[in-house]
Amino acid sequence: MDLSKLTVLITGSNTGIGFGFLKYFIEQKATVIACCRKKSYFNLFYGEYAMDSVKLYPYAFDLSEDFQDSLEEIKKKHGCPDIIINNGGIYKNSTDSFEEEWKRIEESMLINVKAPMRIVNFFKGDLLSKDWARVINVSSKMGSLNDNTSGNVLPYRISKSSLNMLTINQSIQFENSNVKVFTVHPGWIKTKMGGESALDEIETAVKRVLSCLDKKQDQYSGKFMFGEEVLPW
Ligand SMILES: NC(=O)c1ccc[n+]([C@@H]2O[C@H](COP(=O)([O-])OP(=O)(O)OC[C@H]3O[C@@H](n4cnc5c(N)ncnc54)[C@H](OP(=O)(O)O)[C@@H]3O)[C@@H](O)[C@H]2O)c1
Repeated sequence: MDLSKLTVLITGSNTGIGFGFLKYFIEQKATVIACCRKKSYFNLFYGEYAMDSVKLYPYAFDLSEDFQDSLEEIKKKHGCPDIIINNGGIYKNSTDSFEEEWKRIEESMLINVKAPMRIVNFFKGDLLSKDWARVINVSSKMGSLNDNTSGNVLPYRISKSSLNMLTINQSIQFENSNVKVFTVHPGWIKTKMGGESALDEIETAVKRVLSCLDKKQDQYSGKFMFGEEVLPW
């Protein structure tokens, strides 16, 4: 698939799997809207790339806040992205304190659910008029109801379950359009979040997640994917 004429928006693009997506799309000569929390991260991009030889446009905003202005700016400069990758996320564990746990749930919902919802809602009208567009919500098996046999990590689990539910709703909203929406489990990956003992490298996650760009995966819009495998909810 020729990605060179496409524009991709990636959140959490400064590190981990997000930075892996960024590198892949730059290699493919796509236009990359690299969203990250802080402006200081832009130096990472400047260190990695000669900015005048790549189509890499960094934006800084916090996913837990109202970043509508940044989205307006992005739309004004680049139009609507063809691929939106809602990758940025936080992993919060359970705690014995009810109030603290609830605070963690609220924060997780803001970053892991409200931000992806805000981005897709913002571009919805433009996405609907596209000939081809994809939304990829980076979720986790830990958001699976079936898979929860060990309990704990409630803030993360609840937020990723909600992201899965959001994905189903989004796929229904886009049902009669060219927009396909996927929620994906990248695997257990060696990143800041996944830790050193994780099973797979970032490159494996990138390949796995982006298999949903393949035309033969269109039938799985609204599904929970692990590479080409459909996961139970
Ligand atoms: N690694 C795994 O094993 C694994 C497994 C299943 C699912 N996932 C999912 O994969 C995605 C990427 O994970 P990762 O392993 O690459 O994690 P990571 O290395 O911790 O990176 C997370 C990214 O999200 C950004 N982020 C977090 N909170 C933010 C906020 N409030 N505003 C803006 N950006 C924010 C981080 O920015 P900072 O650098 O500023 O914190 C970072 O860029 C996540 O959605 C995660 O839930 C990962």
